[in-house]
Amino acid sequence: MRVILLGPPGAGKGTQAKYIVDYFGIPQISTGDMLRTAVKAGTDLGLRVQDIMTSGGLVSDQIIIELVKERIALPDCADGFLFDGFPRTIPQARAMLNSGVEIEFVIEISVNDAEVVARLSGRRVHEISGRIYHVIHNPPEIEGLDDQTGDRLIQREDDREDTVRNRLKVYRMQTKPLVAFYEGIANKGSVTAPCFASIDGTGSLDFVQRNIREVLLR
Ligand code: AP5
Ligand code: MG
Repeated sequence: MRVILLGPPGAGKGTQAKYIVDYFGIPQISTGDMLRTAVKAGTDLGLRVQDIMTSGGLVSDQIIIELVKERIALPDCADGFLFDGFPRTIPQARAMLNSGVEIEFVIEISVNDAEVVARLSGRRVHEISGRIYHVIHNPPEIEGLDDQTGDRLIQREDDREDTVRNRLKVYRMQTKPLVAFYEGIANKGSVTAPCFASIDGTGSLDFVQRNIREVLLR
């Protein structure tokens, strides 16, 4: 099964991705997590993308496409994968089409701007695993600590309100057009066209999870 999760920053892509990969046994490919790992490790890639990520802009298509192509060539992707935060531009989506990567489901998680700002200001993450919490909606068992390792949780640098507003602007300009792009492909009705569904992301975590699972089990 090959799935794309689309949606603005804070929509819940990473949160829902964890449930989907557990349920369907496919790997999560989060370009954001991959880039953050590179930044933390201080690799060449990390140094190249650090500033752009901190400002909330998008990393170049060329870098991202290369990163993803390498990742999906690994053996654990043979039976499918879940893209979280990729593709984010039309050229990234076209690169997958041109490489013959057949996507079965494109799911847009839709959430309004005010909710995004509220969610991201309360988000806490476990840096190593990418586990995601929210101080109110999905708190850890012990405040400030990861449930599984007890490590201290952090706030992402790009979750400052001004950066979040910039990320929302970038989303509207560069990524939102992917909705029409995939709807257009789906409506052509070819056998290999992905199924497109838009899900309301403002319900509880469980409610959103159930709706996504329903689409994937169709
Ligand atoms: P990335 O890491 O992909 O960030 P993003 O898309 O902005 O999305 P987020 O991770 O912020 O949000 P999310 O939808 O995963 O929400 P989450 O589940 O955490 O990208 C970061 C940067 O990397 C980009 O800005 C760019 O620079 C670069 N980049 C990455 N991919 C790229 C690409 N393909 N091309 C170019 N550049 C790229 O949830 C958010 C919060 O809400 C959490 O606290 C969670 O607990 C809470 N929450 C979740 N669901 C609910 C719910 N139903 N109700 C209440 N709270 C909820
Ligand atoms: Mg995420």
